[in-house]
Amino acid sequence: MFRRLRRLRLHPVLRDLVQEVHLRVDDFIYPLFVRSGEGIKKEVSSMPGVYQMSIDEAIKECEEIKSLGIKAIILFGIPDVKDSVGSEALCDHGIIAEAVRHIKAAHPDMLVVTDLCFCEYTDHGHCGVLDPKLGTVDNDATLTLLAKQAVVHAKAGSDMIAPSGMMDGMVAAIRAGLDEAGFSHIPIMSYSTKFASAYYGPFRDVAESAPSFGDRRSYQMNPANRREAILESIEDETEGADILMVKPALAYLDIVRDIREVSMLPLAVYNVSGEYSMLKMAAKAGVIDYERVMMETLIGFKRAGADIIISYHAKEAAKLL
Ligand code: PBG
Ligand code: ZN
Repeated sequence: MFRRLRRLRLHPVLRDLVQEVHLRVDDFIYPLFVRSGEGIKKEVSSMPGVYQMSIDEAIKECEEIKSLGIKAIILFGIPDVKDSVGSEALCDHGIIAEAVRHIKAAHPDMLVVTDLCFCEYTDHGHCGVLDPKLGTVDNDATLTLLAKQAVVHAKAGSDMIAPSGMMDGMVAAIRAGLDEAGFSHIPIMSYSTKFASAYYGPFRDVAESAPSFGDRRSYQMNPANRREAILESIEDETEGADILMVKPALAYLDIVRDIREVSMLPLAVYNVSGEYSMLKMAAKAGVIDYERVMMETLIGFKRAGADIIISYHAKEAAKLL
């Protein structure tokens, strides 16, 4: 005897007909790491398949990404020189500005999103300028610099600014800075709920952005907090964010659902470096069916309520869609 719930699982076409959420190539934003030089494409051992690339290589990579149907990238810059205030991030000829300009010139149809933070550019590796008395990031001094950095990105041609530093008031400050400089049409995708997570470990190898002392717990969130996680995103919505985000993704799908239910804004998840590398390493060890585990993970983000998925798996997933 078949009962009701099993009847709809028998015919594969019927299974497809009753599928509730779908993964599409259009859901993805693919992260790229750019550095100076030419002909550089350097794989980082903690993230197999992820590279630091010079701008010329990044342009070639975009060709491949487009051929797979992916239309959006998020850029991270690795500067040659770092200093206490992250000066290269504020320069119109810094690595990110140059990368955006060249990539947009070669691929005007690509949506180029820029991650906006200071940790890759400061010699101490923190996400803003330091308050020597507190020994951590000075929130409001950093806000002024974030607004400047956003204008540098927008002038270079960034299509969307994605502030990831978890400073209080960052969305309002960046919005005001962009509007004042004539970029009121550029949206902000805020890393609105971002936890202080050990899952970022491999990213910090690729982006060369590990803090030289301490950790990020005075600005990123405590993984134990649910109400605060919702509050963080609501706050960014109030400040004018256009898209909200939860990061990391896997251990925080309850938070994705919570925010989905309190906000009508589009919601992104960041399927972070450690989540990616765990699957890669498990595949290398021969303990999982990599492609199936990857697709199951990605559809889980959609089911939890995400509209947009930032993922290092994007290219591999696009090939299977
Ligand atoms: C920069 C930034 C980080 C990530 C995205 N933007 C690292 C951090 O906050 O330490 C992490 C991405 C990943 O792990 O894939 N603030
Ligand atoms: Zn940062």
